[in-house]
Formats: sequence, structure tokens, C-alpha cells
Amino acid sequence: MSLLARARPELVAFAPYGSARRSGFDAPIHLDANECPWDDDGLNRYPAPQPAVLRERLAALYGVEPSQLWLGRGSDEAIDLLLRAFCRAGQDNVVALAPSFGMYRIGAQLQGAEFRPLALSPDDGFALDPQRLLAQVDDATKLVIVCSPNNPTGTPYRADLLAALARDLAGRALLVVDEAYVEFADEASASALLATHDNVAVLRTLSKAHALAGARVGALLARAEIVDLIGRIAAPYPLPTPSVEAALAALAPAALARTQARIATLVAERARVAAALADSPRVETIWPSAANFLLVRFADVRAAFEGLLAAGILVRDVSAQPGLANCLRITLGTPAQNDALLAALAEPATTETTP
Ligand SMILES: Cc1ncc(COP(=O)(O)O)c(C=O)c1O
Repeated sequence: MSLLARARPELVAFAPYGSARRSGFDAPIHLDANECPWDDDGLNRYPAPQPAVLRERLAALYGVEPSQLWLGRGSDEAIDLLLRAFCRAGQDNVVALAPSFGMYRIGAQLQGAEFRPLALSPDDGFALDPQRLLAQVDDATKLVIVCSPNNPTGTPYRADLLAALARDLAGRALLVVDEAYVEFADEASASALLATHDNVAVLRTLSKAHALAGARVGALLARAEIVDLIGRIAAPYPLPTPSVEAALAALAPAALARTQARIATLVAERARVAAALADSPRVETIWPSAANFLLVRFADVRAAFEGLLAAGILVRDVSAQPGLANCLRITLGTPAQNDALLAALAEPATTETTP
């Protein structure tokens, strides 16, 4: 059974909005889309719904066919559309890790789907036990979302574990592997599973390693029939023309070489900052990270957060998330920014008040 049979039945044959750029016709003079005819900045025309050149370049970068890749407004949009495509409100559910990226829960709740978090434990390094995860899955489970490396823990999940999960979920649920941070990890992308499993989807983004968070460009990699379904329910023109241009520039050979060099710098900084923090009396635990951030437990998280803020450094307080009491998530910056972070944390925990 194709996994498409698990999508919302009323959407499987859904006819998309017939936008002007989807008509299949082209001509030198466009009087078909109620656009302004004067071209001042190259922005008077609607963009292609799925710009072919960008799709081909990203497909080549990620090792899939262009037909297996859907481009959207960040991976956030792909998460939202997967939830909408598969989950019937009030009936279906989504299983995801906890702690993990917050948009899975938000998206599920917006769609009226039940969100089933699988609690991970800081004590075993946020290990993922497939049997515990599968115990959460029932006939109404449509998506199982595994973020790897996970945000905010930095934990990578091995390709063989993900392959086993995909096998166990075959015909039942779509295994969505969110790889927003995979460029910083040693693990290979789960996109290799697409060739052998029709129930795997992978999320990639240009927001992190490729320095394009402001352009909002992300990709869903999946079997062509799932990509086609997402394309049919998406808004007509997901990607603004300037974002497409910025993405193409980021994929030029020189830009890709610069990105690789920056990834290497951030990975080296990750080890340096972790080692320095491990020596700090204010730090209790640093978990191994395969991402561009560190999850750190402090003896006094308030003092650490406020001390950093007073030094002009904003980090993410994740201490309200399950299992993350007293934890901050610290994104790795430039070496100079990381030096500033370490210097600020070397200050005494409490500020002296003069009488
Ligand atoms: C795990 C994860 N997935 C997806 C996203 C969203 O990425 P995008 O900018 O591509 O929408 C983030 C952003 O922080 C993230 O941490």
C-alpha cells in the first residue's frame, strides 16, 4: 500500500488552484495574471510555483530527484503542510520527541490533530528507544517526527535506527526526519532511505548552515507522489523571487565552499566552547551536540541567563521544556562572539551591590 493512502482521502485527488503560472502556456506578452506590466526591479511578475533551476540544484545537493523535492517558505511550511495533508482534525495523531522543535506541537494543534510527545531523558543523553516510540503509534497515527540532530538537545539519531523505524512504520505512518542541523553532524542524511521506503520524508533548510534564515527557503524530500500532494495543497507561489535568487547565489560553488569552511569553524568552536564550559564551576552538564548549538545545564540558570544578557549576549532559556530544568541552549557564534560568551560566564554568578 502506498503511504499516500494514509493522507486525508479528500485531498488525494485535490485539484490545486489553477494559478497563471500553472496554465502550461507561455508567450512573450503576459496579460494573464493581473500583474503590473512595467518591470522596475524584476519583481512585477509572480514567481514560478516551484522554480526549476533551484529545485534541480537543491535536488543535486541533497542527492534526490527534482520530482522528490518540494520547495517551501522554510521547513516550517513543509511541517505545516504535511500535518494538513495527513491529519484529519479530531481523529488523527502525530508522535514526536520531547523535548524537540516546538512547531510540531503547534502545527498539530492548529490542524486539530492530537500531539503525542515521547519523553526523552537527559540521564541517558536523550536516547531514542524505538520500542517506546512504536508503543505510542496506533491506527490513527499519521506522522512520526524525529528531529536529528534534535533541537534543543543536539542529539543525532543513527541512520540504522531511522531505517528500522521506517520499516516498522511501513504502510502505517510517514516517518518525517527533520534535518535542519544535519550539516553540522557526522551522520549521513536519512534521504538515502527514500529509495527503499515510501514512508520517509526528510526536511532540509537553507536557514542554518547556508546562512539564509531571512530568505525562508526550505525543502521537503519525499516520494514523488507525496511531493505532488504537498504541491497541490500549497499556496500558489511559496517562494518570493528575491529568496530564489538568494538561494541560487548560496548554491554557487564559491558560496558552497565558504559554507563548508564556516561549518568546519562552527564544529571546531563547538568542541572548544564545550571544553571551556566544562571547566566552569557554574556549569553542571553539557550534552554532546551534533548541531550548531550546545545544551548546557547551569547550577543557577537565572544568573547565567541574566549575566549573559547584561553582557549583551542573548541565549535561549529552554528550562521550561520537559527534562531541561536549568538548561540554556547556546547557539555557536563566531570565535569572537564565543570568546565574549566565555568571558561573560567567567564573571562571578552574582553581581555585587555597593552599599
Ligand atoms: C529542528 C528545526 N526544524 C525546522 C526549523 C525551521 O526552519 P526554517 O527556517 O527552514 O523554517 C527549525 C528552526 O529553528 C528547527 O530548529
